[in-house]
Amino acid sequence: MNGEGEKKEIVLCMGSSCFARGNAKTLEIVRRYIEERKLQARVFLKGSRCEEKCSCGPVVQVGCNSYERVTPESVVEILRSEFPEGGDGE
Ligand code: FES
Repeated sequence: MNGEGEKKEIVLCMGSSCFARGNAKTLEIVRRYIEERKLQARVFLKGSRCEEKCSCGPVVQVGCNSYERVTPESVVEILRSEFPEGGDGE
C-alpha cells in the first residue's frame, strides 16, 4: 500500500439544485463505497452549499479534480479512478 496517511477530500455539492438532481443519492453511494472498501482513513467526505456551477451540476469534487454532471452511476467510476488501490482489482 502506498500513500498512507494522505487524505483526499470529497466534496459533494448539497445545494438545492445539485441535491435534487442526484447528489442526494450520490452521497449514499459514496458513503457505501467508502465503507465497503474501508477507505475511511483515506477520505474526508463533506458537503458544500453551492459551487456556483448549478447549470453544470450535480457537482462533485475529489481532491483537486472537479466533476460535473455526476450521476449516482458515474460517481462509482470516478471513485474507482481516484482510489485505484481501494477498488476491486485491475
Ligand atoms: S447547487 Fe450545486 S453548484 Fe449550485
